[in-house]
Amino acid sequence: MALAEFLASLDKLAEQAQTAFRSADSLPALEVVRVELLGAKAGLLRRVQQGLGAVDQADKPAAGKRFNEVKQLIEGALADAQNKLAHGGEDVGDGLDVTVPGRPLRVGHLHPITQTICEMKDIMGRLGFTAVEGPEIEDDWHNFEALNIPLSHPARDPLDNFYLAAAGARPAQGETAGENLPPLLLRSQTSTVQIRVMEAGVAEAAKGGGLPPPVRIISLGRVYRPDTADATHYPMFHQIEGLLVDREVTMADLKSVLRLFCQSYFGGEDEVHVRFRPSFFPFTEPSVEVDMNWRDAQGNSSWMEMGGAGMVDPNVLRAVGYDPEQVSGFAFGLGVERICMRQHGITDIRALYQNDIRFLAQF
Ligand code: DAH
Repeated sequence: MALAEFLASLDKLAEQAQTAFRSADSLPALEVVRVELLGAKAGLLRRVQQGLGAVDQADKPAAGKRFNEVKQLIEGALADAQNKLAHGGEDVGDGLDVTVPGRPLRVGHLHPITQTICEMKDIMGRLGFTAVEGPEIEDDWHNFEALNIPLSHPARDPLDNFYLAAAGARPAQGETAGENLPPLLLRSQTSTVQIRVMEAGVAEAAKGGGLPPPVRIISLGRVYRPDTADATHYPMFHQIEGLLVDREVTMADLKSVLRLFCQSYFGGEDEVHVRFRPSFFPFTEPSVEVDMNWRDAQGNSSWMEMGGAGMVDPNVLRAVGYDPEQVSGFAFGLGVERICMRQHGITDIRALYQNDIRFLAQF
């Protein structure tokens, strides 16, 4: 068969199909037309396709191409006709109905931990504390040494810290930091920022020849410890660190600042209590664990452990260049996740970091 003849039969079929689809006035009628034209066994398209075998060998590619085009055209026209009949004869174009109300845009919001952090910054800002940040990759000096954590202290154990391999080995027993390449680690506590802030203040004061300034800062950020994740542990979490250094600072100042903080964060009208239990941290003396008690929405009250605090150890003040005879200070470090979870009734810390939008969208 000549190519022209085959193409003519295709064109004729296309035309026939258009007319037939247009004249079908119901879905069952259209179905009859569909079988007539596109039926797998005896449809007209099938019959035309059989003619393809008789086309001259050289013309086969062109004939095949046109056959596919026409086939698609017919199938497209059929879908349109079906669509139109299914919508009561209205021509719905590509199925777009501009009168249907649109899908509302989903507006994102801050992660619950970020919300908690913002609120904490806000409250502490009103109490006169400036928020500062420090690096998450720290050196031995800021994470341990200057915080009065000696080389032999278990807090430096490689099993309890994320040391960075690239920074060289952790100093062996008896070596001082710096004999090897100084070890770097992902900071295990935000207390590092205390050192950075005080050092910067002392350096600034030295330039002008004056006394180091009073310090009143908070630092909020991520800390890292190789804990196995469970309902209350995660290898990365957040702390809020506070530091106040000035003349004649006392434990009473520490307690009233923490009580004001808790009252503003949780309290509302209700009474909030802060309790200190004796404890030990290398960088504070005396040191305390901080517990807090308030009445929640259900009327229950119970004590919750919030973190540690104390009076800045004179060794720490000396390490950064303050004179412990002249100034004193308090410091505290509280867990952000714990407070956020308690506020929202979240019982598994892992839920905060699984990035399941169905969970996060609730807060
Ligand atoms: N850095 C301590 C920790 O991660 C928490 C802490 C305790 C911070 C006492 C302080 C403090 O500033 O005074 O467990």
